[in-house]
Amino acid sequence: MKKSKRSKKSNTWKIKQHRDQFFKKSKILGYRSRASFKLIELNKKFKFIKANSNLLDLGSSPGGWSQVASQIITKGKIMSIDIKDMETVKNVKFIKRNFLKDEVQDEVKKYFESNLDIVLSDMAADTTGNKSLDSIRTNQLCAQVINFSNKTLKPKGVLVSKLFMGEDFIEVKNLAKSLFKKVNFYKPESSRKESKETYLHCEILKTL
Ligand SMILES: C[S@@+](CC[C@H](N)C(=O)[O-])C[C@H]1O[C@@H](n2cnc3c(N)ncnc32)[C@H](O)[C@@H]1O
Repeated sequence: MKKSKRSKKSNTWKIKQHRDQFFKKSKILGYRSRASFKLIELNKKFKFIKANSNLLDLGSSPGGWSQVASQIITKGKIMSIDIKDMETVKNVKFIKRNFLKDEVQDEVKKYFESNLDIVLSDMAADTTGNKSLDSIRTNQLCAQVINFSNKTLKPKGVLVSKLFMGEDFIEVKNLAKSLFKKVNFYKPESSRKESKETYLHCEILKTL
């Protein structure tokens, strides 16, 4: 076998192993998706979810992040939103809606009654087959979440959002930097190595 063919085969094997490892772990621990481990890792790194946090989980289906949040949050409120269905998670209020609609954002504000401690977004636009376009569409969702968080987070609140290292990455990063004092990026171990996905972690609004 030629060297390039052999290394391609070995890379595919490594990717499969990586996926299987988190898939198996999620089944053993009762998580609905491998995505749970991304939030576990993000929270281990930045330590932002507290027992009394009021948390919004955007793009929540099938519910892996909501499960993790509901294990930690015992005194706060959790609301999850997705266009797709999501089975009930204990102590989580789920609404099946498009987050981008004004009336949905109003519903969020009404539900929490006061400003939020944490906004999470793992929203990803439907894939079109064009990776560059998919990345731009998901990053635009991230930009919308940044602007929403600026209006709804407590001054010391935290925003964590999926973002792709695509062509408009700098634009979205600059938007975050214009509104938050601290902006970090972190790619969890459980995020596929071959994916350009990373996570934005922002805290402390500049208005403070
Ligand atoms: C990667 S999945 C999220 C996985 C989830 N964090 C978990 O732990 O199970 C991305 C989700 O974003 C949702 N989504 C995309 N655009 C959305 C929008 N405008 N409003 C609400 N949900 C959206 C999709 O329906 C999809 O279920």
